[in-house]
Amino acid sequence: MKAAVVYCSKTGNTKKVAEAIAKVLGTKAKSVEEKVDLHDCDLICVGTGVHAFRPERGMTTFIKNLTGVEGKKGAVFGTYSGLSSFLGTLESMLKSKGVEVIDKWGCKGEFIKTNRGKPDKDDLEKARDFAKALKERLS
Ligand SMILES: Cc1cc2nc3c(=O)[nH]c(=O)nc-3n(C[C@H](O)[C@H](O)[C@H](O)COP(=O)(O)O)c2cc1C
Repeated sequence: MKAAVVYCSKTGNTKKVAEAIAKVLGTKAKSVEEKVDLHDCDLICVGTGVHAFRPERGMTTFIKNLTGVEGKKGAVFGTYSGLSSFLGTLESMLKSKGVEVIDKWGCKGEFIKTNRGKPDKDDLEKARDFAKALKERLS
């Protein structure tokens, strides 16, 4: 099973989660700004922070520009300070590209004086559990 983990992270919170997930899946997390080759991937995991109630624009642009991903499996993740409903937006966007989204997960991320220190050790452990479950489902 070959996985890709792609993230968009303005303040570094989602990047930490992406790196934890990627390690379990045996790959390197890549930013949306890097060149990402998805053609031989079985699983595409995408994650972002939420800004002004929306998934970060870098990620929505990345998904809009995806081609040739029909029939692949996918998963979404992210960090936020308030509501996690943006994960559903990401899921719908991936589905519109023909990707079968098998799971989604998110945790709180530090934002000004809220959620200090998050994602923390426990959050990263949960991120690894999320990735392990994805791996098991696809093995
Ligand atoms: C400019 C700005 C706007 C934000 N807007 C929201 C928001 O609308 N809803 C929310 O839940 N969190 C919001 N947040 C909090 C971020 O989603 C949270 O800190 C997240 O962990 C950032 O992830 P990142 O560091 O990977 O970009 C906002 C953060 C910033 C900096």
